[in-house]
Amino acid sequence: MNIGGVRLKSDLLFAPIAGFSDAGFRHICASYGAALTCTELVSAKGLVYGGKGSEDLLFTTPETTPCAAQLFGGDPDFMFKAAADERLARFDIIDVNMGCPVKKVFNNGEGSALMRDPSLITEIVQAVKEGSGKPVTVKMRAGIIEGEPLAVECALAAERGGAAAITVHPRYREQFYGGTADHSITRAVKKAVKIPVVANGDIVDVKSLERAREESGADAFMIGRGALGRPYIFAELAGTPYEFDARKTIDKHIEILRRYNPDRVVANLMKLHLCHYAKGKDVAKAVRVAVGAAKNLEDILRIADEFFN
Ligand SMILES: Cc1cc2nc3c(=O)[nH]c(=O)nc-3n(C[C@H](O)[C@H](O)[C@H](O)COP(=O)(O)O)c2cc1C
Repeated sequence: MNIGGVRLKSDLLFAPIAGFSDAGFRHICASYGAALTCTELVSAKGLVYGGKGSEDLLFTTPETTPCAAQLFGGDPDFMFKAAADERLARFDIIDVNMGCPVKKVFNNGEGSALMRDPSLITEIVQAVKEGSGKPVTVKMRAGIIEGEPLAVECALAAERGGAAAITVHPRYREQFYGGTADHSITRAVKKAVKIPVVANGDIVDVKSLERAREESGADAFMIGRGALGRPYIFAELAGTPYEFDARKTIDKHIEILRRYNPDRVVANLMKLHLCHYAKGKDVAKAVRVAVGAAKNLEDILRIADEFFN
């Protein structure tokens, strides 16, 4: 399939996950077959005002391609300026966040709050498209209030603005990450729009992928939490043979992060990843305790030596 002319090798994509979708982990997911990866949400205002924190989220290895950068914001002017920023030039697609449920974001009229205003959605997609000159996708929820779906009208509004694809995480903003993803909402979006639709939510294995496929009829499938600690899930779902060595993966991950970040930042980023790599294993608790006490990258490397060799 392709998104606005960007060709994807398969229909399995890696979701943006704040705190996890760093350049290293995106690279690793892509190496296991994720056909598209995406940065975590980056504030349009933060970028425009020159925030270093926003810029740091936009590091990416040249070989992790195609890759999308995700912007969030509720003001078309800021979204235009951010999309035109040269730090986004290395990305293939710009994704607009219309799903973030967090109070600070929502109360600012950003993230999932955009779903209250379809005409603003159209304006924002147009602005990001004009600013970046790249294909623009949007990632949305089912709606805001439980039982009151808004996804179809919001998807149509995005399509009117020129969106190249829509991802639906069919939970309401009120639900945050509770309950289960209702892929029938994604099916309704798929019926309504002509552009590709990506189903997201609760895909963790072949069975749940099949459920999402049948219920949504979507063109592609996005995996988030199911990939944490298990980047090989993309090969597993595609039925391609793969090898996974947690220690080698951790070393590669650290090596990539060190290209762009000071060791202090690398250590912090790796803490949560190590806990996920250990999840479900005998050492899980010991790793959590050790990570909790880790102060620097040397400590992280010692944990890798002790528990992942
Ligand atoms: C810790 C965490 C951080 C997330 N950060 C983002 C984000 O930055 N941008 C975004 O669009 N979605 C974000 N999401 C939502 C995921 O991309 C995805 O839509 C959701 O987790 C459902 O998919 P899954 O069941 O495969 O995880 C986040 C989810 C979690 C749990």
